[in-house]
Amino acid sequence: MPTEPPKPPTLSERLASIRQASNTLAPATAEDAAAREFVFCVADFERVRKLIYDKAGISLSPAKQDMVYSRLARRLRATGMKSFKQYLDHLEFSRGAAEWEGFVNALTTNLTSFFREPHHFPVLSQHLRAVAEKRRQISIWCCAASTGEEPYSIAITAADTFPNGGPHISVLCSDLDTSVLATAEKGVYAPDRVDKIPLEQLKRYFNKSVTPEGNVYGVKPELRQMLSFRRINLLDPVWPVRGPLDVIFCRNVMIYFDKPTQYKILARFAPMLQPDGLLFAGHSESFLHAADLFHSLGKTVYALAARRG
Ligand SMILES: C[S@@+](CC[C@H](N)C(=O)[O-])C[C@H]1O[C@@H](n2cnc3c(N)ncnc32)[C@H](O)[C@@H]1O
Repeated sequence: MPTEPPKPPTLSERLASIRQASNTLAPATAEDAAAREFVFCVADFERVRKLIYDKAGISLSPAKQDMVYSRLARRLRATGMKSFKQYLDHLEFSRGAAEWEGFVNALTTNLTSFFREPHHFPVLSQHLRAVAEKRRQISIWCCAASTGEEPYSIAITAADTFPNGGPHISVLCSDLDTSVLATAEKGVYAPDRVDKIPLEQLKRYFNKSVTPEGNVYGVKPELRQMLSFRRINLLDPVWPVRGPLDVIFCRNVMIYFDKPTQYKILARFAPMLQPDGLLFAGHSESFLHAADLFHSLGKTVYALAARRG
């Protein structure tokens, strides 16, 4: 029986074989290839991986090569560097370089939204009510606050829980990325960012303003005054956070860290929490490997494993 002649390889097969055979990272598509203005080789990617892991604990998988290229190519243009090698040499050889901030900010993923993972907020409200029976001061730390939607959702929940006045509530909002933290501090959002907030809450907690670019919604001062903002890298040896804390929100950031890094951070959270404190995690984060520190109450909410008296 005659055999069929082999089919010519498709474009993606050709790119995959280039990727395997060469030290240069092949772009995912022909458009990407045409768009690339800097050479980006395996050694460059491995250097980026090591630098961001050491600096921020972020583990980048090989699947993130295209993302890393496009985000850092912008930094090369902004700093006038001619190649990845020159850019990475600059970071490696001057540990205090101002560009470290641009590098870290470029590689963080800041996806967030108001009332993300909404099942957490009734749990928070119930907890705040229980704590208010024991203490007049409630401290919350939102440690990967991104652009602020999460800490403002916490503040709205607190304000709704105590409509007629209650305990003094403070929410410390921190993030590694200074540019998202600046957005959080401004507390001004485009209509598509607030469209999931029920109209009644939107009216109660936001001021609508008309700008040349369109409508924007600014958080009202009564909500804003609960919050304070600080850049904190969870990998730093010292956190400028005053305990004891009633609640820690640490959602959708641990997924970027490997298990040993997660464990080290959880081991530092535990002594900062009140004995009855709660830790809220992201939907795909599980702390079963830290069962000696935290136990699950379900719905990715955790309590201290050993409740101290
Ligand atoms: C995907 S966002 C999650 C935002 C929010 N917690 C939520 O769940 O909607 C992850 C955030 O973690 C921050 N981040 C990454 N590494 C960090 C680190 N080492 N220390 C503090 N924040 C970090 C990023 O800058 C980013 O804003």
